[in-house]
Amino acid sequence: MENLISLVNRLQRACTALGDYGEESALPTLWDALPSIAVVGGQSSGKSSVLESVVGKDFLPRGSGIVTRRPLVLQLHRLEEGREYAEFAHQPKRKYTDFAAVRKEISDETDRETGRSKAISTVPIYLSIYSPNVVNLTLIDLPGLTKVAIDGQAESIVQEIENMVRSYIEKPNCIILAVSPANQDLATSDAIKMSREVDPKGERTFGVLTKVDLMDKGTDAVEILEGKSYKLQFPWIGVVNRSQADINKSVDMIAARRKEREYFANSPEYRHLAHRMGSEHLGKVLSKHLEAVIKSRIPGLQSLINKTIIELETELSRLGKPVAMDAGGKLYMIMEICRSFDQIFKEHLDGIRPGGDKV
Ligand code: GDP
Ligand code: NA
Ligand code: MG
Repeated sequence: MENLISLVNRLQRACTALGDYGEESALPTLWDALPSIAVVGGQSSGKSSVLESVVGKDFLPRGSGIVTRRPLVLQLHRLEEGREYAEFAHQPKRKYTDFAAVRKEISDETDRETGRSKAISTVPIYLSIYSPNVVNLTLIDLPGLTKVAIDGQAESIVQEIENMVRSYIEKPNCIILAVSPANQDLATSDAIKMSREVDPKGERTFGVLTKVDLMDKGTDAVEILEGKSYKLQFPWIGVVNRSQADINKSVDMIAARRKEREYFANSPEYRHLAHRMGSEHLGKVLSKHLEAVIKSRIPGLQSLINKTIIELETELSRLGKPVAMDAGGKLYMIMEICRSFDQIFKEHLDGIRPGGDKV
């Protein structure tokens, strides 16, 4: 049986392909209902580094200023074996094995939409990575929260970014990955400020503390990591990403992960927490959680999908046959996807009903 996360991934891509198809449709509602994980934090808090560590690959554009200017929907697919590769939804026929080329394409595709104006756009870029070294997971990278416009950007960009981030994380089905750097006061964390606003009880927020290695001598993050400074329903996870010096020296991800593991295992203050720290642990926890959330939402998703199918059928018969236009073709496509979903969801549902076979 296809795993639930990749099923939802396909549905998400299909909804976006049809995203421009009319506000009154059930499709936007369906997109909103699909569980996802969004990464939130201030500029330079370590969001890109966290994503790269979870993937175990270097592939995100870097630099100072507002580098991420469009949402990046990153879909990770675990392969049992074989060589890893990446694929963009906007270039379905091209397989990337060179991750430096992936980085360049993210940045080129950002510019194509924003016209090199350094403005931001809410239109997502879809990137899939297939690899034996990843867990099944979907993560959405969002522009970093910032307080001032730079690079000649309009002052309004500060508010635009905040609105974009909020539009993702305010959805009840969004799992928030709130990234805060350990070398700044948690009380001033943009990630915590925003996530608290939409999820005051911390029921769908994962706190990630980056730069644990960069804290002032004589201070440590134990209070935060034990959940005593800011309580969330899920345990906080501390990480040590590559420093700028590591990046400049091209320290690879395998070495970085090993260094991270050693850091937590060998620090007297963190040793008791080491088993639940680090990027590898973070990836596993998120994958498990996402799958559980999707499972719990199946009944609701199924009824939405059925509603969408009925709507699409009505729309197609209104257009009349033969439907030569592009919209008609797209409608057929998504209807087929919805139908197959309905079927597969039924199977999964049987698996979780009492008395049913375990999935
Ligand atoms: P973003 O703007 O939130 O995406 O932040 P980046 O991931 O680009 O990180 C900003 C800078 O902080 C980069 O120079 C990283 O190398 C550095 N950095 C991120 N996380 C850590 C960490 O855990 N430890 C150290 N020493 N440096 C980090
Ligand atoms: Na950055
Ligand atoms: Mg970044």
